[in-house]
Amino acid sequence: MPKLFSGIQPTGELHLGNYFGAITNWVELQQEHETIYCIVDLHAITSDYDPEVLRENSVNLATDLIASGIDPENSILFIQSEVREHVELQWIFNSVTSYGDLTRMTQFKDKSEKMDFVSAGLFDYPVLQAADILLYRASRVPVGEDQVQHVELTRRIARKFNSRFGEFFPEPEPIVGRGARIMSTADPERKMSKSDHDKHAIGLMEDEDSIWEKVKSAVTDPGKAKGDEMSPGVANLFTLLELTAPESTVEGFREDHREGNLMYIDLKEAVYENLMSEIRPVREKKEELMENRSHVEELLEKGKEKARKIASGNMEEVRKMVGVGPT
Ligand code: TYM
Repeated sequence: MPKLFSGIQPTGELHLGNYFGAITNWVELQQEHETIYCIVDLHAITSDYDPEVLRENSVNLATDLIASGIDPENSILFIQSEVREHVELQWIFNSVTSYGDLTRMTQFKDKSEKMDFVSAGLFDYPVLQAADILLYRASRVPVGEDQVQHVELTRRIARKFNSRFGEFFPEPEPIVGRGARIMSTADPERKMSKSDHDKHAIGLMEDEDSIWEKVKSAVTDPGKAKGDEMSPGVANLFTLLELTAPESTVEGFREDHREGNLMYIDLKEAVYENLMSEIRPVREKKEELMENRSHVEELLEKGKEKARKIASGNMEEVRKMVGVGPT
């Protein structure tokens, strides 16, 4: 079975962008892949964060992932910092990564623009991501659109390493699903993101009234747009509907839109209803899991052991190829 790797940062709770852009694909892809899913706490420390809650957030995120359908018996689910080889491989990759390539990473440019203190770690962040993927020699990487550039960089790093030291790493392919770019309902020109949580993200575990408030007040456009023209806000609502509602429901709304009869409040109600039907079971499962947190911790322990085994084997090979120890 092809090997697949993906990661998510433990910063705040899961939002609909993470869920539809990544997690639902992660769950589906478990069937036909050897899957490895990682909570990337070392990525999270490159921006401002609270050490007191980071560990807690990582376990909490694992709970959300399991509630969403990640099966830790079949997938390897673990916390990045528990496997030290990630950082070791990152350092080696730093030597085969082009500085110019890193300066072209749009996520770095976007994030660093808003910060007073820009860490070198934030700049080097995509190299750690490449190490995450290639440490397991994964060939597929399910991600949202914003991470595709990082996966392409990973391919270049793999190529460079292979040509310098010998064929070892695959050149991984991104897998991008239907929900790859969920936008903020408050500002549909920007993507939904947890860094600006309150207004611009809808949390998977958020209070139902608050979700309805955000959907109800989603920015659309002043009039009933006709024909194929769709403003970004309305297009985003349609995306959410397509991800959660039966095709016949979506087609009905599309028809109304084409004819210029669409009432946005009806669309919003449908989005809310279908969204809640999709995520309610996840929320219930999460509550169940929260009652037995130590079980989640045990599952993470097992995941860590499995990940360490693969990582240490591959890293041993890499050290030999590169000519460094420990031998
Ligand atoms: P992170 O934690 O920002 O996001 C996790 C996943 O959610 C996707 N995503 C979205 N998809 C659609 N619409 C959105 N608005 C949206 N926001 C987030 C992301 O594309 C991602 O797939 N650098 C990565 C984590 C990472 C990683 C890896 C991923 C570290 N190592 C190795 C893949 C492979 C990140 O910060 O994702």
